[in-house]
Formats: sequence, C-alpha cells, structure tokens
Amino acid sequence: MAHRSGDSLDRRTGHNLVAMRAVILISGNGSNLQSLIDNAKKIDLEICSVISNKRAAFGLKRAEQAHIKTHFVDPNLFKIREDFDKKLISIIDDIDVDLIVLAGFMRILSPDFINHFSGKILNIHPSLLPKFPGLNTHQKAIDSKEKYHGASVHFVTEELDGGPVISQEIVEVDSKDTEHSLAKKVLEKEHILYPRVIHWYTQNRLKLIKKDCITLDGNIL
Ligand code: GRF
Repeated sequence: MAHRSGDSLDRRTGHNLVAMRAVILISGNGSNLQSLIDNAKKIDLEICSVISNKRAAFGLKRAEQAHIKTHFVDPNLFKIREDFDKKLISIIDDIDVDLIVLAGFMRILSPDFINHFSGKILNIHPSLLPKFPGLNTHQKAIDSKEKYHGASVHFVTEELDGGPVISQEIVEVDSKDTEHSLAKKVLEKEHILYPRVIHWYTQNRLKLIKKDCITLDGNIL
C-alpha cells in the first residue's frame, strides 16, 4: 500500500513533507475536483488520476488542464455493475493510492469495491445527512420547508449515502430560494468543506474505526 503521508511532518508548518496520493472519481462538472486541484498543495494532496464514467464530463477537461492523468471507463462495456467495479479496482490498484475521493460520481459502488478500499473512500453529498439521501436534495429541502440545508462529507460504506458523517456545512434556506439558487449556495460551501476534511485525512487525523464509528485526533466524532 502506498502509505506515504504522515511519515514525515514539517515541524514548522505542520504539513506533510510528502503528499498523500489520491484518485478522484467524477461524472460531471467537477467543481469540487477544481477546488481540490486549487487547494492540493495546501492540503498535502497529490491527485494522481481522475476517473469518470462519463466521456463528456467537464471535470475531465479540468484535470487535463491541470496535467492530471485521466481515465474514462465506459459502463456500457460491462454487463454487470460488479464487472465495471472490478475494472475500477484494477485501475486504482495500479495507481496505488491511499485515498479515493468521490466528487459527484453518480454511480452506486458495489460492496466488493467498498470493502476492497475500506476506510479510504470519502464522498460529498449535497444535504445535511441523514436528511435527504439520494437525488434531488435541493428540491426536497425546499418542498419540506427546511430552514437549513447544506452539504456533508462522509466515509463511504455499503449503505447509500449512509456512511458516518465527518463534517457538514450549513446554509439558510430563503423563502425565495429555487432549486438552482440553493444548489449554488450549497456548492460554494462544498468547495470549502471538502478540502478541509481531506486535509484532516491526509494528516492522518481521521480514521474509520468500524462502519459507524470515526475518530478525529483519536476522539470519537
Ligand atoms: C455536488 O453537489 C456533490 O455534493 C454531489 O454532486 C455534485 C457534484 O458537483 N455529490 P461538481 O461536479 O463537483 O460540480
């Protein structure tokens, strides 16, 4: 396993001297990917590769612009989900990373994939989990007249959007908010939240102890 982070901390800055290797999985625009590219140095992250299940994902362009290797894995080439996921596993194993970041990756991952990389997969979800797992979270928040909405970063376990939540950012829902305006407000918060949590991870401060228990600096969250 690639473990390189935390081996040597710069005593003056508290940063790792060697960044943690990660792969980022996307399906679309990739604005979260962009915020990670922009913050990579600051958060001790080496983005080794970006993988998409959509050929036209704009995030692939962002990665190319940042000179990051990209892979498009076409789901249509695989009869069943497990075969697609096996391909993903073999690509990621070859790259040899310590962290898998889901950033708008719109596919459900099989238990085999999740168990293979147990404790090393993070996801960002646009709601205050456990509220509104799944899709259309902004409209659901408006429809149920929520006062507050936001985004959550969690470890990925076998339960869809159900892994233990690490940290959240909150926005107020305005009476004039539309799905679009709310999505914009939440995304802005996501771009702060994800780098923050990933930095905890790259500093080895964050651990998944068991499927519903995480620690930050040794304290149960
Ligand atoms: C974000 O809202 C994220 O929470 C969700 O998918 C969206 C991805 O946006 N998982 P982007 O592709 O990073 O712009």
